[in-house]
Amino acid sequence: MQVCEQILELARWAPSGDNTQPWRFEIKGEHEVVVHGFDTRDHCVYDLDGHPSQMALGALLETMRIAATGYGLRADVTRRLGLPDEKPTFDIRFVPDPAVQPSPLIPFIKVRTVQRRPLKTTALTAAQKLALDASVTPDYEIAWFETSKERWGAAKLLFHNAKLRLTMPEAFEVHRNVIEWNAQFSEEKIPDQAVGVDPLTAKLMRWVMQSWSRVEFFNNWLAGTIMPRVQLDLIPSLACAAHIGLAAKTVPKTLDDYVAAGRAMQRFWLEVARLGLWLQPEMTPVIFGRYHREHRVFTSDASAKVLGAAVASEFTNYLGEERSGRVVFFARLGTGNAPQARSTRIPLSRLYISK
Ligand SMILES: Cc1cc2nc3c(=O)[nH]c(=O)nc-3n(C[C@H](O)[C@H](O)[C@H](O)COP(=O)(O)O)c2cc1C
Repeated sequence: MQVCEQILELARWAPSGDNTQPWRFEIKGEHEVVVHGFDTRDHCVYDLDGHPSQMALGALLETMRIAATGYGLRADVTRRLGLPDEKPTFDIRFVPDPAVQPSPLIPFIKVRTVQRRPLKTTALTAAQKLALDASVTPDYEIAWFETSKERWGAAKLLFHNAKLRLTMPEAFEVHRNVIEWNAQFSEEKIPDQAVGVDPLTAKLMRWVMQSWSRVEFFNNWLAGTIMPRVQLDLIPSLACAAHIGLAAKTVPKTLDDYVAAGRAMQRFWLEVARLGLWLQPEMTPVIFGRYHREHRVFTSDASAKVLGAAVASEFTNYLGEERSGRVVFFARLGTGNAPQARSTRIPLSRLYISK
């Protein structure tokens, strides 16, 4: 295997929203690769302006950089200009550089994974927090929410936010397509066993999610959102050491800003893994918050519109007015058990394209 392929073999373990892996690779030579990115904004309500996909691309590029240090290589990245934002394309050249030292994060590239189940409430140590604060460059800062009052605040926020996710038809289509049922691992989706509900609730969810009319009936007459919201949002929000907001120093606007944000997210998440901690992103309030701030329509459903506005203001209050527009990533973290189920990845052989 060429060095370039060995780097990609590791880098493809970068995280992406719903495990969409919005990247394909074109090998140009032993030390040269083109990353052809894409996004899912045309069919995924969460991929607002493709920003979450751009963050995933940033995570990929950062992981390539880290993996390359193991070979004494520097990764020089140039984004091709003049292409539509829907198709971000990057030329990467790996250059031998005596100043490059192997990154201590390399062993954690494949260990890093989402833990959606409850974690311990044991507080993080000062040393752990220092290491996490230092994992991002000075263009970013970590806002910490650790007290039981703050965790209750997050729990309420995510409980309300989950009602929105579970009652809007646009999100139903997304959820239906991203879960692989009866699965512990999934190459292209999220296995149901990694979603965070008990097996009985998973069975029920599978049956209900066959059609929107079943979802509506269940939600309207059987308080159908309560069990999944308690298991997926309320309990995990309380059962963790902290929630964090990763905030850019200035409000991110461009594709490059979101790629940079994805790099910061991945550095932070790999540091979490290095410290033996686990993390779950809680990105939907960030996304609904921006829909609301920018007066953008995200649903055809009248009550979801009202709920969306309420969730967005609750999130702004939680983060603080000034900071809320700068937060690119919201997540919970803590110590706990390793997840038994996880998303895997599309094999490298299927990620190659030739142009
Ligand atoms: C930009 C971004 C947003 C994400 N948002 C969420 C989220 O809101 N909730 C969640 O449980 N996981 C979220 N994830 C985690 C992905 O679902 C996960 O990374 C992917 O399925 C691959 O699984 P792995 O990280 O365990 O390898 C997000 C990941 C990224 C990169």
